[in-house]
Amino acid sequence: MKNFLALSQEFKSFLESQTWIEEPKGLYEPIEYILKIGGKRVRPSLCLASAQMFSGNSEIALNQALAVEVFHNFTLMHDDIMDDAPLRRGQTTVHEKWDANTGILSGDAMMILSYQILPRKAEVHALELLNTFSQTAIDVCRGQQMDIDFESEVEVSLDQYLEMIRLKTAVLLSGSLDLGAIVAEADLSDRKLIRDFGEKLGLVFQIQDDILDAYGDAELFGKKEGGDIDANKKTILFALALQHSNESQKKELLELYSSPAGTAGKIERVLEIYNSLHLRHKAEQMMQEYHQKALQDLQGILVNAEAKAPLFELAVLLMERTV
Ligand code: IPE
Ligand code: IPE
Ligand code: MG
Ligand code: MG
Ligand code: MG
Repeated sequence: MKNFLALSQEFKSFLESQTWIEEPKGLYEPIEYILKIGGKRVRPSLCLASAQMFSGNSEIALNQALAVEVFHNFTLMHDDIMDDAPLRRGQTTVHEKWDANTGILSGDAMMILSYQILPRKAEVHALELLNTFSQTAIDVCRGQQMDIDFESEVEVSLDQYLEMIRLKTAVLLSGSLDLGAIVAEADLSDRKLIRDFGEKLGLVFQIQDDILDAYGDAELFGKKEGGDIDANKKTILFALALQHSNESQKKELLELYSSPAGTAGKIERVLEIYNSLHLRHKAEQMMQEYHQKALQDLQGILVNAEAKAPLFELAVLLMERTV
């Protein structure tokens, strides 16, 4: 059984063996660029770990893992246009290095490429793979639209927030695990459990992303410091702030959150309010709760403990990430 690091290495070697550049170069160079500037490769590693858990063999899911990573990088390329983000993985975003039209079309091409890669070496499972992949893809679009809609909504409840991140982020982690389970021919009840595990892991993942956006080491995290606050993003910290603030704190927060990006002093003042309410700690407690629930789903899967070890390992690693 390969541990999580070995699985992510296996994927990285496979990714490095691929070539991306065709004609016209203007379409393909941004694709190669975004795929080569780094990334944790969490989703493809999940896909391989799931295949290994259900069949003892991770290799059978390499192409599905690649499809997921290409799809993920496509969502990042378009997300950075939508979020007007200057930095990704510490490097200039595609739409800033080239332009928005380039980011749109190279992103479209990546999405199509991901569909071409998806059934490779697993043609007998093509239909099931396609079902999971397409449902995941449309859910990500729904979540991304909610994320954008929420920028101009004054108040967002914790439940609305959780549904938004379930769609924009959690379903892709869940879908990645399911693709691995499909090629490994797992039965339907185990597939349901692995998806449930992935969804809770995905909620943990996005809550952590929101925390790191506000509190992380921006250099390490590789994104613009305080970018979510600046863009009035409705993050876990904002949703919790509405629940825990008094009248005057809430009034001030909503005022700050109605000002445009780039407003002087905004990020600092919002952080002061968050700090005074101890929201980082509260958000971390929520992560812990979903983490525990995720582990229960994993425990319920009917394979031996050794086979589950890499996924347990990853669930713990994700709780501690700083990148
Ligand atoms: C970023 O995903 C987008 C979110 C869903 C938060 P990752 O944090 O997995 O990004 P990379 O691929 O490792 O850069
Ligand atoms: C991630 O949301 C969701 C998708 C990319 C689909 P974010 O907007 O929080 O991701 P980052 O922080 O830019 O990576
Ligand atoms: Mg973004
Ligand atoms: Mg976004
Ligand atoms: Mg983010």
